[in-house]
Amino acid sequence: MIIEPRMRGFICLTAHPDGCAQNVKNQIEYVKSKGAINGPKKVLVIGASTGFGLASRIAAAYGSDAATIGVFFEKAPSEGKTASPGWYNSAAFEKEAHAAGLYAKSINGDAFSKEIKAKTIELIKADLGQVDLVIYSLASPVRKHPDTEVLHRSTLKPIGETYTNKTVDFHTGNVSEVSIEPATEEDIANTVAVMGGEDWAMWIDALKAENLLAEGATTVAYSYIGPALTEPVYRKGTIGRAKDDLEATAFTIGDKLKDINGKAYVSVNKALVTQASSAIPVIPLYISLLYKVMKAEGIHEGTIEQIQRLYADRLFTGNPVPVDEKGRIRIDDWEMREDVQAKVAELWEQATTETLPAIGDLAGYRSDFLSLFGFEIDKVDYQKEANEVVAIEGLV
Ligand code: NAD
Ligand code: NA
Repeated sequence: MIIEPRMRGFICLTAHPDGCAQNVKNQIEYVKSKGAINGPKKVLVIGASTGFGLASRIAAAYGSDAATIGVFFEKAPSEGKTASPGWYNSAAFEKEAHAAGLYAKSINGDAFSKEIKAKTIELIKADLGQVDLVIYSLASPVRKHPDTEVLHRSTLKPIGETYTNKTVDFHTGNVSEVSIEPATEEDIANTVAVMGGEDWAMWIDALKAENLLAEGATTVAYSYIGPALTEPVYRKGTIGRAKDDLEATAFTIGDKLKDINGKAYVSVNKALVTQASSAIPVIPLYISLLYKVMKAEGIHEGTIEQIQRLYADRLFTGNPVPVDEKGRIRIDDWEMREDVQAKVAELWEQATTETLPAIGDLAGYRSDFLSLFGFEIDKVDYQKEANEVVAIEGLV
């Protein structure tokens, strides 16, 4: 089958198995090129199939020869339909990892559920005994609460007042003004229920209750801050409340891990094109300007560069982990540099449909977006029949 991107709104309905595999290989090569990390050996990644979670899995496996268990929620291929990109990524990762002699198994299902937690616990017990790193990297629009069975839906809304700013449709390049109505109290509570820290704490509680966390184990979840420009819709909006909750949860988890000398951190990561961030109004315009500035400065990073740096320069240096005044690890340091932000703010004022192709990195945005689905990847021949991938080797 020849597979081409098929867009509907902001999503791509198809994914290319060879392109996804090449993406994974490129990330593996990057980690290897940076040399060994004195890092974790047995790692659980929750949200392991795309974005920062996939990079976290690859950086552990190829940075410090870690055995990895990945949990994710992805679609297998079916009659006339390709799999979701995370499914192909995971198939490719496991194939590579097994060929390299690395333990790698996966669980595909709802990480918020009791069933998937129980299944993961059984797998760790049977195969690894304990884990020394737990990465929590879920990004989901919904969560069915395991106790109440209520289905919570997260929203991306400002709080208090309507927010109006510029945004771009990155497919057409059209810059327009968007207004977003403020959230209700219910929207806020729902977003915190989905993207806040409760489920992270539930995972750690469940693992600890079974004595599956090794002495000195670390757990890390990912957050975002961003500039004043996007604050109303991000950090001071509904998603920001969820991130506040996630960051506070790092402290409650940290307290619970004291008896095993364990540590819980939130790492604040850079803004990147992912399926999740493309759906947030205003953010794609910010990212296209940010990419332009960071690439010009030679400080642009993707997920794998970010996570390799998180492991090598922050978490596993042998020295205390550097954190900000709120206890957070900052690998958004280059994004947040004063000169970078001043330049982005200046370009923001100038951005129109006409100017954006020159002042912003719209092409880079589009190409990064397509590459999430395995398209526009170097070394992949898209004229050729795609390899059929029908199984993930280590799927439990
Ligand atoms: P992503 O969409 O690429 O990855 C999400 C992962 O979660 C996938 O592996 C997916 O399969 C999994 N998942 C979703 N729902 C699930 C469920 N119910 N059960 C099991 N697995 C499920 O997202 P991402 O951008 O890598 O985001 C990961 C984290 O990083 C989030 O907390 C996000 O807020 C944070 N972050 C993102 C950015 C950014 O710009 N993209 C920046 C900083 C921080
Ligand atoms: Na992820």
